[in-house]
Amino acid sequence: MNTIIAPSLLSADFTQLKNEFSWLNKSNAEWIHLDVMDGIFVPNISFGIPIIEQCRKLSHKHFDVHLMITKPNLYIEKFYQAGANSISFHIETQDVASSINLVKQCGILCGIAINPQTPIQELVPYLKKINFVCLMSVQPGFGGQKFIASSIEKIKELKIIKNELKINFDIQVDGGVTLENAAEIKNAGASILVAGNTVFKSEKPLMTIDKLKEI
Ligand code: DX5
Ligand code: ZN
Repeated sequence: MNTIIAPSLLSADFTQLKNEFSWLNKSNAEWIHLDVMDGIFVPNISFGIPIIEQCRKLSHKHFDVHLMITKPNLYIEKFYQAGANSISFHIETQDVASSINLVKQCGILCGIAINPQTPIQELVPYLKKINFVCLMSVQPGFGGQKFIASSIEKIKELKIIKNELKINFDIQVDGGVTLENAAEIKNAGASILVAGNTVFKSEKPLMTIDKLKEI
């Protein structure tokens, strides 16, 4: 099974974005993960539309925009116009059904993100309509946190639901992914791994991406 690696730009050196993209573009990472935070849904503020628009000029990779914002519906189309190839929003926010429709209307991949404390069962009504679940394995808001061990059980639970309902969606795992835990995360059922610190703080990021893919 091909695992998609999605380096999370949150851990990049923002004074060197051109440099960062020049090696990312040569890497075997298929997706670039872009964490958008509003300071309300999560206790941190990252970057938004203008930065993504600028980054779009530096790369042809798939841009995976993860919205950690309270009112995604107001901004989905704007992030699409800024260059998103997929957008995930949180199930803990407002009107999930209309968020799905808004993303689908843009003609891009749709993901639902879910926080560690939210029961997996809450996803069930939406699974047929989406392309992937972004399963948070840390509390959203910051890079470089430790993987929450119980996330493995949640991945397995979601995989069981996927098999039972015979629905085709990908499981993306976001937060605390390392070279040490990647195998277990994949074996549990994940096919998209987001990795911030593990890639950007690595001495050999290209090799780290390959290892995460091949593990
Ligand atoms: C956290 C973000 C993650 C984060 C992952 O709120 O959603 O995408 O950048 O970073 P690491 O891999 O360092 O945990
Ligand atoms: Zn993220």
